This record gives sequence, structure tokens and C-alpha cells, in this order.
Amino acid sequence: MKTIRTVEQLRDAVAQAKAQGLTIGLVPTMGALHDGHISLVRRARKDNDIVVVSIFVNPTQFNNPDDLRTYPRTEQADCAMLEAEGVDYAFVPSVEEIYPEPDTRVFDLGPVAEVMEGAMRPGHFNGVAQIVSKLFMWAEPTRAYFGHKDIQQIAVIRRMAEIIGFKGDIVPCPILCEADGLAMSSRNTRLTPGQRAIAPAIHRALEDALEAWQAGKSIADITARTIAAVNAVSGLDVEYFQIVHPATMQPLGEEPAPDGAIGCITVYCGDVRLIDNTIFPARP
Ligand code: PAF
Repeated sequence: MKTIRTVEQLRDAVAQAKAQGLTIGLVPTMGALHDGHISLVRRARKDNDIVVVSIFVNPTQFNNPDDLRTYPRTEQADCAMLEAEGVDYAFVPSVEEIYPEPDTRVFDLGPVAEVMEGAMRPGHFNGVAQIVSKLFMWAEPTRAYFGHKDIQQIAVIRRMAEIIGFKGDIVPCPILCEADGLAMSSRNTRLTPGQRAIAPAIHRALEDALEAWQAGKSIADITARTIAAVNAVSGLDVEYFQIVHPATMQPLGEEPAPDGAIGCITVYCGDVRLIDNTIFPARP
């Protein structure tokens, strides 16, 4: 594996690959890699000739300076994991390399970016669109891989891809959970042992929500009971739970849901913000 730090090196590597007619799989990350990321890397490895993984804690997507400051940074361990997975290039740029001047682009992301994370974290999705559009432009991936845990991010990236005319495939990959159900996240490393012990209650509440959905309960009822179940655990504080359309991310009413739905939750565990979601099947 080659670790590259400049856009020029990335563009050269891509030009070489393209000249040989090779396919490129891109896995954008912010590092602090865990098995969830590795599952994306393995999928990219299986599907493509060349695999590029970017590691960059993107400042423009953080609306909270403390969150940016405390975001875990583990470059050495990350690169060792990627090397073991047979990745071709780890792209690990500096902030100056990515943003030699401020990125003033404002993407018209529409309603998909206005709810849930978009409402709670103003500017977050525009920052994601800024960095991912740059990565798409430089890495010219045949396919780009994103985790389903950030389902709204995938919907936003699809919209951004439409805007910039990106021709590659955006490949969503399933959420990976720890043995006790907690969705894998780089932020989990910030949980104290006590917080780590209570955090799986989030996943259990989502499982109960799915059961209630399958039993035909109303959205209002499922929403109320899910929020109550999580908030009943001392140390957990629900920011939102919403049942939304799987593509538009808009909250569903009590009408039939022929496309299925996604139950999305965000919970504060101390000052660590955890997100998770679960897929609800179509309900006629
Ligand atoms: O999901 C993430 O880790 C980030 O939002 C991404 C897609 C790497 C952009 O910085």
C-alpha cells in the first residue's frame, strides 16, 4: 500500500489506473477505523481493481468545534489495518492540501438535507458535499462506498452526485454492530465503560420499534414508545427519533408505506452523540 498525501499524487495514481482501463473503488473515511469501515474496504476490494481509502477529518462538516477537536485520530493504526486489507492507496492529506483556500461552494441539496441531521447540525451536509465532491473529482471512482449507519448522508451524497454529474456508482453497505448490538462508530471509543454498557439500549429500542412496525402499530405510537424506552435509561437522552421515507428522508405520516421506511435515531450518551437506524419493510 502506498500512503499518499497530495492531490497531485492521487491524480497521478488515478491517471495511471485509468490508462490501464482499471476500475477504482473509493472508500471515504475520517479515520479511527473499525470493522464497519473494514467491511466497506472489503466490498471495495472485491468489486474493483484499485482501492483508494481516504482518511481526512473534514473540518467543514463539523458544526461543533469541540466535536472536531475531540474526534479520534489514529492514523498509524488505520494505515496498518488498510495495509492488511490489501488497499492500494491510503490518501491522507492535510487540511491545507484539501482547502488551500476556503471552500465557499453552497450546494442546493434540497429537502433531503433539511430534516434530522440537517436540522440539528446546520452546515454539516454542505461540508460533507464539499469534501466528497472533491474526492469524487480527484479519485474519479468507478464506485464509492458509504455505510448505511449514515443513511441520510447517503441520500445527500446521491443528491450532490446529481448536481456535479458524477457518473460512478454510490454503493451503500450494511451497518455493522458490536456483539451487544451497539452500531459500530468511531465515536464509540469516546464512551466511558459505564456509557458503553448502557449504549446498546439504543439498538434494543430500534429492534422493538421494528417489531411494533411489523405488528401494524401506528407511527405515533412507535415513535413515542421508542423515545420513552431510550430515555428511560439513565445517561441516555434522545435528540430525535423519526420514521422517514428511505429515499427522500421525509417523515412519514400514518399512510401506507409501500417503499418501506427507516427509523432513524440520535441519542446523547453524555457528550457523545450516537446515531443508528433500522430498515422497516414495506407496509401496504
Ligand atoms: O461518513 C464519514 O465518515 C464522513 O462524513 C465522510 C463521508 C468521510 C466525509 O468526510
